[in-house]
Amino acid sequence: MDITQVRQKFTEYFLGLGYVQGEPSKLVPENDPSVLYTTAGMQQFKNFYTRPEDAPASAIITTQPVMRTSDIAEVGDDTHLTMFEMLGNFRFGYASSFKMKQDALQEAWQFLTEELNIEPARLDFNIFAGDGDILPDTESEGILRSLGVKPRKSGREDTFWGPTGDEGPCGPAPEVYLDGVEIGTIVLNQYYQSADKKIRPLEKAGLDVGYGLERLAATLQGKSSIWEIEPFLGWTEMLKGADKKSARLIVDHLKAVIFVLSAGVKPGKNGREYIPRRLLARIFEAARNFDPDYSFLDVNANRLGAKISAYYLQAGYKLLPWRETAKSIEWEIIRYGHVMAKFERELEGFVASNRDHQASAEKFVFEQFTAQGVPIEVVRQKLATNEVKLDEKHLAELIEKHQATSRSGAVGIFKGGLADHEAQTVKHHTTHHLLLAALRQVLGNSIVQRGSNVTSERLRLDFNFDRKLTPEELKKVAAIVNEKIKADLPVVCEEMTKGQALKFGALAEFGQKYGESVSVYSIGGFSKELCGGPHVEKTGLLGRFEILKEEASSQGIRRIKARVC
Ligand code: ALA
Repeated sequence: MDITQVRQKFTEYFLGLGYVQGEPSKLVPENDPSVLYTTAGMQQFKNFYTRPEDAPASAIITTQPVMRTSDIAEVGDDTHLTMFEMLGNFRFGYASSFKMKQDALQEAWQFLTEELNIEPARLDFNIFAGDGDILPDTESEGILRSLGVKPRKSGREDTFWGPTGDEGPCGPAPEVYLDGVEIGTIVLNQYYQSADKKIRPLEKAGLDVGYGLERLAATLQGKSSIWEIEPFLGWTEMLKGADKKSARLIVDHLKAVIFVLSAGVKPGKNGREYIPRRLLARIFEAARNFDPDYSFLDVNANRLGAKISAYYLQAGYKLLPWRETAKSIEWEIIRYGHVMAKFERELEGFVASNRDHQASAEKFVFEQFTAQGVPIEVVRQKLATNEVKLDEKHLAELIEKHQATSRSGAVGIFKGGLADHEAQTVKHHTTHHLLLAALRQVLGNSIVQRGSNVTSERLRLDFNFDRKLTPEELKKVAAIVNEKIKADLPVVCEEMTKGQALKFGALAEFGQKYGESVSVYSIGGFSKELCGGPHVEKTGLLGRFEILKEEASSQGIRRIKARVC
């Protein structure tokens, strides 16, 4: 039974039980600012566990692409993917938790043993043994025993699920194994955990069952690895010359990047945007292992990306055309070339100073990782080569602190609805180009961008300048931007070869193949920047420009926050 057939069997079976077909949610969740990506099918339904009366139906199924960046280190083995498809069935509004468990476990059992025809002896369940004040899940144990199953028991880590985000429903969660492979989790939401970590019973219970489609399909086909079934089997082989682990990693990460970019996320420095940046950096590093001449996107990976996109488009997912995704990736390759060249220089300096034990290696790793986007594993490896030791605990603390800040940084993005958010963010992106060009006109051509961040609320541009701008200079800059908006200049995307891009010092890391083109956005002869877009078509669409703030960002770097409205 291949992936498509398993998906279909699941859908038919649960629709037959009275479930309603739901749409998968966007990969960027819309109703929960405390998470960066959709990591589970239940996420879009989170509120229905506390307010079942708000649910459009009391029983819903979805096929949900989910992102699990927590599993990224595992990718390359037989069973882990950064992004996988979760088959989910959900029910809300049970007065009795026992009734919920009966429905959940009996439906799962029937789906597996009758619809998918799995021999009961191949199945195995692991249930919650209790933890402190939370009682063991004896109800599930009784129900499973009545089905002829003798479940194993384990602690909270494996068999208690949720909440996703800062707070939410949670509960005991029997794990389902097929031939020893974990294929699903049956979450029995009978509790609610609030932000202060306190757990109380939910008034109404609700179930949340998720199966990993790829694992389920592979195990059903008698394969011990998801990489041995279609479509993955053919895909890893398209990366000629790649070792097994690198090929798997590239396919996995490229697939995730295709979905993430299609969800409207651009690679960037913080929070949500950092994820595609990190995935791409890991792809570039893995590709270098077997392709020192670095032809990524020239032939094999380009064909692979086109193939992955086509496959999921045909499976019904809304994705950007591969060409557009490829353009953004090209831009990241160029950026990465810069970053790595800088990293090598700074590493040399660091190693030299570290000989006198003056520098903190953890701080160096952390800064390279957060500020420059050098993958942490690359920094680690290079330090090890140079015999620099790391205090992993200290490093973990720095990273944990940073991640907490990124998560809270995501909150602001959610004001004002997504459609509006996207259009306004695009406007700010184009305005960002105008602002940089205006700054160069007023302060001189030595001004270059040193950092940027664009949201629907405002744009932020960091640039090199060693003093505060005068009110006159700021006025002049704003007047130029407004003048260019009024002139309704066309925004045009041109192609240029990677060879030409070399003028920017780019691609020095990546060998000699410059056949493919990258995109350059020009605004009426006023601004010209290497960029992956997207942009408005004409500056007249932007509205009125205003500078909100000008301040120091760090030594020698100024920061301007501005917006159009
Ligand atoms: N929400 C459960 C999971 O993601 C089904 O594993």
